[in-house]
Amino acid sequence: MANDPPPNPETPSPAPQPSSIWGGRFDGSPDELVQSYTASITTDLLLYRHDIDGSRAHARMLAAQDIIAADDAAALITGLDQVQREIQDGDFALRNELEDIHMHIETRLAEIVGDDIAGRLHTARSRNDQVALDTRMFVRDAIVQAVGALRGLQVALLNLADANPTVVMPGYTHLQRAQPVLFAHVLLAYFEMLDRDAARFVDAFERTDVMPLGSAALAGAAYPIDRQAVARELGFQDISRNSIDAVADRDFILEYQSAAAIGMVHISRLCEDLVLWSSAEFGFLRFSDQYATGSSIMPQKRNPDVAELARGKTGRVVGHLMALLMTLKGLPLAYNRDLQEDKPGLFDTVETLISTLMVMRGALLTATCNGDRARRAVESDPFILATDYADYLARKGLPFREAHHVIGALVRSCEERDCGLSALTLTDLQAASPLFQADAVGMTVEDALAARDVPGGTAPRRVAQALQEARQRIDVADRNDAKA
Ligand code: ARG
Repeated sequence: MANDPPPNPETPSPAPQPSSIWGGRFDGSPDELVQSYTASITTDLLLYRHDIDGSRAHARMLAAQDIIAADDAAALITGLDQVQREIQDGDFALRNELEDIHMHIETRLAEIVGDDIAGRLHTARSRNDQVALDTRMFVRDAIVQAVGALRGLQVALLNLADANPTVVMPGYTHLQRAQPVLFAHVLLAYFEMLDRDAARFVDAFERTDVMPLGSAALAGAAYPIDRQAVARELGFQDISRNSIDAVADRDFILEYQSAAAIGMVHISRLCEDLVLWSSAEFGFLRFSDQYATGSSIMPQKRNPDVAELARGKTGRVVGHLMALLMTLKGLPLAYNRDLQEDKPGLFDTVETLISTLMVMRGALLTATCNGDRARRAVESDPFILATDYADYLARKGLPFREAHHVIGALVRSCEERDCGLSALTLTDLQAASPLFQADAVGMTVEDALAARDVPGGTAPRRVAQALQEARQRIDVADRNDAKA
C-alpha cells in the first residue's frame, strides 16, 4: 500500500469508455481519480438486500400498471433473485466505475437478462428516490435491532439488580459519598435511561416508515404508477407527500443517530460507573474473566477494557451525528451528491451501537457484585447519615435550614474529635440540640434507606416494587415491539 504511487490528476485515464449507464452525453468516462473519489460501493454494498427488495416491488408494480410487460417484470425479478444470490455468496465484483450499489445491481442484471429488459427497470424511478427508499428500509431494520438490543441490556440490568436485592452502596454527588442507596436502585436508574432510549427509537420509526419511491429525481414520476402498492409490498405505513422533500432530506437518519448518540451517552455513564466500581478503591463489582482484559506488562492487572471502549466509542457515534448535521446544513433543494455522505456515519453508528449494547449485556450478565465492599464503603463513612440527622430535627419541628446548620456544626465537631455521627451519645446529641431523644442514637443505614419511602425512592420496598414493575414493563414492551 505504502509504495503505491498516488494517482496523478494531470494524467487522464487511458482509453476513455462511455459509461454504460449515464454515459450518453459524455465522450469518455470520468478520470479514475474522480471515479474512486465519487464511488460509494464499498460502503453502500450494505444496502443490496433493500435495493433488490425495492426493485422487485417496483418491477411488479410497473407490470401491474401496464407500464412494462408482465414477462419483462417476471424476467427482472428472476434476474434480481440471481443477483441477490451472487452478492450473498460473495460472488460479485465491485467496480469503482459503477459508482454505487444501484448501478452495480442494474449492470449485473443487464448481463443476466439482457440490456433490453434490464433497461426497463429504471422506468419511473431515479437513483435519488431509490437511495432514499433503500436507506429508509435500512434504518427501519436498524431501529428494530436497536430496540431489541436495548431491551437485552435492560434485562441484564434487572438480572444484576435481582441477584443483589439487599446490597447497599454509597450514592454519590460530585463523586463524593452522599447518602446510602440500594445497588438495585442505581441499576434501575440506568434501566430508565435505556427505556427512554428505546422509546426514542420507536418514535423515530414512524417518521422513517414513509415510502419515497415515485418521487423520481425530484419532481415525481411521469407515469401512472401505484405508489401505495409499492408501499404495501415493502411494508410501509405511509407514502411521502412531497417529491422534493422525499429525495432531499435525511432527517430520519438524524433521528436515528440522535437516539443512538443519546443512548451511547447513557451507556458511557454506566460504563464510567462500572469502571469505578471495579477499581480496587471501590471494589463493588467484578467483571467475569470473559469480560476483563490483562496487561502486557503488569501480570496482576484485570482491566475493564470493554467498558472503557464502550465509553470511548460514544465519541464516534456523537461525531457521526454532528457530521450529518453539518452535511445537511445549508444544502439547497433537492438531491445533492453531498447526501451520499450520509451512509458511512450511519452504518458505523449502527455497528457501534449494536455491538456495544451486546457486549455490555454480556459484561453485566456475568459480572458479580461485592455487597460487603459496598456496605463497608457506606458504613465506614462517618457522615453518610448526616442528612438523616437533619431530617430527624426537622421532623421534631426545627426548620430544615436550621437543622442543616446544627448538623453541619455537629459534623465539624466530630471531625475535630475524629469520630462519626453514629458514635455520638445522647448527651453529645443533646448538646447540639435539645430536640434529640434516645431514638436518635445510633441511627442505621437501614433506617436511612427505609425513610426514603416515596415513589421513586430507594426504600427497599419501593425498589422491590420498582424492580417488579420494570420486569412487567419489559414484557409489555417486548410484546409491543414484536407487534410493531
Ligand atoms: N450513491 C448515491 C447516494 O448515495 C445514489 C444517488 C445518486 N444520485 C445521483 N443523482 N448521482 O446518494
